[in-house]
Amino acid sequence: MAERIPGRVGAAQPKNALAAVAIYTHRSAIWNADEMRITTRKVLKPQGTSVYREGADFNAAYYRRFYKTAATRAVSQAETEQRGALIAALLRQSDVPVRRVLDIGCGLGWFKRPLLKTFPQARYTGVEFSHYLCERHGWEQGSVVNYRGRGTYDLVLCCDVVQYLDKVEAIAAINNLARLCSGALYFHVPTKKDWQLTIDPSGTDLNVHVRSGAWYKKQLRRHFVHIGQGVLVRRGREPVQWELEEPWS
Ligand SMILES: C[S@@+](CC[C@H](N)C(=O)[O-])C[C@H]1O[C@@H](n2cnc3c(N)ncnc32)[C@H](O)[C@@H]1O
Repeated sequence: MAERIPGRVGAAQPKNALAAVAIYTHRSAIWNADEMRITTRKVLKPQGTSVYREGADFNAAYYRRFYKTAATRAVSQAETEQRGALIAALLRQSDVPVRRVLDIGCGLGWFKRPLLKTFPQARYTGVEFSHYLCERHGWEQGSVVNYRGRGTYDLVLCCDVVQYLDKVEAIAAINNLARLCSGALYFHVPTKKDWQLTIDPSGTDLNVHVRSGAWYKKQLRRHFVHIGQGVLVRRGREPVQWELEEPWS
């Protein structure tokens, strides 16, 4: 079965995308008929054998379902490590020094290995909201909304976390990421367009807030410049890029 990655890659699944639209139309005012062509009002329930319930804690069942079980996971360790290697290579190529790494909402910590492979002198700090993961993996407990850390970090990762926050918390989180980050930020969330075109909702946590890419870009642009592949750098610290290697459309 093809891997389903929430908002990152994955084959477009028009039927499922329409179902996802219906879910959000049904549950909240995030989607509306003016924005989307709604053809069904079927409400999907997460599939699979896990006992994870939407809205439940980030507990063992959540990680079993979305990360550990090949048949139901959203992303594999190999895919996350490949992305970590790409982020590291881009930063190395851009001469961004990486000594202190903060991975906030780090989950199972799958970004750690590829980053330390490229930057062996770096120190990795994993922070998690999940008490379950903190106990099991030794991560520091905290929230991206108000985690203070110790000083600033050359590289901050925040991958697939902010979709769990409401608008006020999401703005606070992005401002907090800017405060914590002195160099580069890898930021990812599934956006409205991703829900329309890319995500297979049967392999994704549906208990999230859906916002447009434009909304996220507006918040992030206050502090950062995008250099490609979801990697941003603090304004004023932009590396020199060849024109045709910059993000363009
Ligand atoms: C979809 S997982 C992503 C895990 C990891 N970043 C990755 O890409 O593999 C979302 C994670 O965000 C964490 N999380 C949710 N709300 C959070 C918050 N306010 N602050 C920090 N982490 C949070 C959850 O505990 C969960 O482990």
